[in-house]
Amino acid sequence: MNILLLGSGGREHTLAWKLTQSPKLQRLFVAPGNAGTSSIATNLHLNINDFDEVKTAVLYNNIQMVIVGPEDPLVNGIHDFFLKDPTLKDIPVIGPEKHAATLEGSKDFAKQFMIRHGIPTAAYQSFTAETVEEGFAFLNTLKPPYVLKADGLAAGKGVVILQDIEEARAELSQMLLESKFGKASTTVVIEEFLSGIELSCFVLTDGKHYEVLPTAKDYKRIGEGDTGLNTGGMGAISPVPFADSIFMEKVSQQIIIPTIQGLQKDNIPYKGFIFIGLIQVGEDPYVIEYNVRLGDPETEVVLPRIKNDLVTVFEAIAKQTLDTVDLEIDERTAATVMTVSGGYPEAYEKGFEIRGLETIKDSLVFHAGTTIKDNKIITNGGRVIAVTSFGKDHIEALQKSYRNVEKIAFKGKYYRKDLGFDL
Ligand code: AMP
Ligand code: GLY
Repeated sequence: MNILLLGSGGREHTLAWKLTQSPKLQRLFVAPGNAGTSSIATNLHLNINDFDEVKTAVLYNNIQMVIVGPEDPLVNGIHDFFLKDPTLKDIPVIGPEKHAATLEGSKDFAKQFMIRHGIPTAAYQSFTAETVEEGFAFLNTLKPPYVLKADGLAAGKGVVILQDIEEARAELSQMLLESKFGKASTTVVIEEFLSGIELSCFVLTDGKHYEVLPTAKDYKRIGEGDTGLNTGGMGAISPVPFADSIFMEKVSQQIIIPTIQGLQKDNIPYKGFIFIGLIQVGEDPYVIEYNVRLGDPETEVVLPRIKNDLVTVFEAIAKQTLDTVDLEIDERTAATVMTVSGGYPEAYEKGFEIRGLETIKDSLVFHAGTTIKDNKIITNGGRVIAVTSFGKDHIEALQKSYRNVEKIAFKGKYYRKDLGFDL
């Protein structure tokens, strides 16, 4: 089978690495990909949100399955585009249709879905420019910290948490009246602050059946001790030690099953990954958010632990026979450490040569923001290289990753040295 994978990050290099292990794979194309994917697949230079361009590439390369890494093509309706096109409709797309992708594309839609199906989440109300005064009044009823969320996609920057009521009022004004996040903040969700430890739970569904993937915990802040600005993710660990069987049974009963049944009751078809951002409050799980894709860098620790042939799993999604698949999970812990460009997540430079990758033998090296120029691998983004290792626990796995991260050299390289500090 020829497969096209969309995306260019560490998540996509990991998916590509896993797909190329399948005897069912003939040719793998990645668009646009990175230096890592170019070494195991064929990169295609195309705009993955221009579906006519994707169509041309699919037909030209005789693609038989499309796997969507990031959320934006899904929220923009790539799956619907395939279903509506007579030449594409029989080519399975792994990733949900637009309606389901609204679970990530609109926080208000996701909150309404959770409330409708009794799924535990923070109490909330939504406001627009017309109801900004009611928004101020709602803030007055809450205790700090105040959680304000732009409803739409805002490149991971749309959530603002503030201690001070005056700052919260100013933020709400900016979002609603001054379009701080453009169209994404036409509606703002204000919600109750939940205090606890976060984890990511991944579910794979064909719309009828589902499989729960290993849990993971990512480290979002740039600074040690979880300080400083939010990033795409500085590292991840799987499994999450505190997500024991009692906790996961609650997640299953209170969150996963009502989510799958809720999609069915609402007539929302779903073929793909559901990423449930959870927070443990006391002993109980609450949903912080849904994403309609795999997480990055969680993928770099979740996929290496799955022993199954991924093409077979994706075929079962397409045929709605996921009940015939038994996931086999590696018992060991996987940990990934992300190296990033100096300055990230604010302004940073790119184009620096990356050295030392070939010296790493006992860890997996996944490329994120990298490209090739003059036969050299160079930095091409904020997050650059993730190094994943296995161990009997997260301490052993992290030690191995850290040892190998030190062998990688590029100008301005930074990484967090305290991953797992909170476990
Ligand atoms: P989101 O984009 O919805 O994942 O939010 C980004 C981050 O903000 C989350 O990973 C949490 O750390 C934090 N967050 C979001 N909602 C809440 C909440 N209700 N209470 C506490 N923290 C939150
Ligand atoms: N690691 C968080 C995300 O992928 O959104």
